[in-house]
Amino acid sequence: MAIIKVGKEDLKNRDSALNELREYFSGLSASKGREITYSVRTYGCQLNESDSEKLCGMLESMGLTEYEGDKTADVVIFNTCAVRENAEDRLFGNLGIIKSDRKNDKDMIVAVCGCMTMVEKNVDKIRKSFPYVDLVFDPQHIHLFPVYLRDSLRRKKQLVNISADDYIVDDSLVPIARKRKFRALVPIMYGCNNFCTYCIVPYARGRERSREVGEIIEELEILAYQGYKEVMLLGQNVNSYKSSEGDRFPALLKAASAIKGFSRIRFMSSHPKDISDEIIEIMASSSNIETHLHLPLQSGSDRILKLMNRPYDITDYLKTVHYFRKMVPDGSLSTDIIVGFPGETEDDFKRTLDVVSECAFDSAFTFQYSPRPGTKAALMEDQIPHDVVTERFGRLLDLQNNLAYKSNLAKVGKTEEILIEGMSSTAPDILTGRTMSNHLINFTIPDSLKIEGKSADDYEGMLCDVKFTSARPYSVDGEMVKLK
Ligand code: 5AD
Ligand code: SF4
Repeated sequence: MAIIKVGKEDLKNRDSALNELREYFSGLSASKGREITYSVRTYGCQLNESDSEKLCGMLESMGLTEYEGDKTADVVIFNTCAVRENAEDRLFGNLGIIKSDRKNDKDMIVAVCGCMTMVEKNVDKIRKSFPYVDLVFDPQHIHLFPVYLRDSLRRKKQLVNISADDYIVDDSLVPIARKRKFRALVPIMYGCNNFCTYCIVPYARGRERSREVGEIIEELEILAYQGYKEVMLLGQNVNSYKSSEGDRFPALLKAASAIKGFSRIRFMSSHPKDISDEIIEIMASSSNIETHLHLPLQSGSDRILKLMNRPYDITDYLKTVHYFRKMVPDGSLSTDIIVGFPGETEDDFKRTLDVVSECAFDSAFTFQYSPRPGTKAALMEDQIPHDVVTERFGRLLDLQNNLAYKSNLAKVGKTEEILIEGMSSTAPDILTGRTMSNHLINFTIPDSLKIEGKSADDYEGMLCDVKFTSARPYSVDGEMVKLK
């Protein structure tokens, strides 16, 4: 399928819809005598978070404000994920909960977008069981959300707008309301060509298409000027980034690293088949690229990797890991692992445990295999019984928790620079942040370093040195020794 480049002309229609909606919501606000609010509920990965920031940006340019209470906003958007079944179950549960609010308020708007809308049976279910959902649209068309919203308001009955066109939009033409004042999410490419046999993403997000280097660097320069400290370069498979001029990811990463102002540059995800020594060398030699590599393993068995259509073997994978550990000795390595892929034997699973031990991952996202309709693996024979999957999953978790704890323990006694992310969710007065290697740190501020009049939240986005005092399974505790 051809990739469609959306130009300024194409966005005129979007802008006229934006204007119309601004007027509509301003009238609604006058008649209700209060602000009109929105809430965007995001499931899934950072690319979805990034799409949600665009939805929020467009809603704010319609004059809406983000809802922060515990009731329901006037416009509620569910930005969904289809990677595993449990995210779908959560959406349907939440649509059920919102039903009475929607029925009691004729002006309320409920919309569903994201990867789930690309699975036909989900859209059928919304049509049949949730007719009060006003709008359903696919993730390729985020930039046209105002057009759909306007059309659905005119129509006064459910509007479903799904197509599988592979759009690429200049992101500078879409308003973005960034969630964190210090961290900017910057997609560098969209879609995936890999068709891992378990994965729905290539069906939901279309073929790989990369933004142009100049466009990305311009966005980064503006972000640095605006004071963002951290930037995350995002893509399903960033290492296969390729601009129309043939520029590849190492060149983009170097250009991003040369921009003055960012303390941290992160990128994810990497595919083991595409990560190169060159990228690891750039990480090793740069002072602002995070020393953290996310390298999804999926399975430790070559046989299962073949069935998954993952074109690397464990020997290749370990070579990359050893090179990373050698070149970036203070770095950290994280991974994704699927347990219970069809045909996985006890022997295959033990190989996964062996590889996990050898790599000593600093952290891991572990998943139980979830059959996705339309993927090859869902049709494979020898699906693994649930009790076998949960038993194996438990063993993997025990091993990985132990490795994560050891990785945290190795930090104790050291002092490192932390980018402050805000308050700890469990204890006010305790700040939370991350090291360059992406370790999560909770720490106190001695009275002598407190800035008068500042609340814990105001420290968000600042850099400081923290001395690490003790380790927990998922975090490290410490005390600030210097505020920068
Ligand atoms: N079942 C379980 N886990 C999956 N993932 C992707 N598809 C599935 C599935 N069908 C996991 C992979 C991927 C991560 C984002 O989600 O580990 O790397
Ligand atoms: Fe899914 Fe594989 Fe593409 Fe990752 S690389 S998004 S797991 S198909």
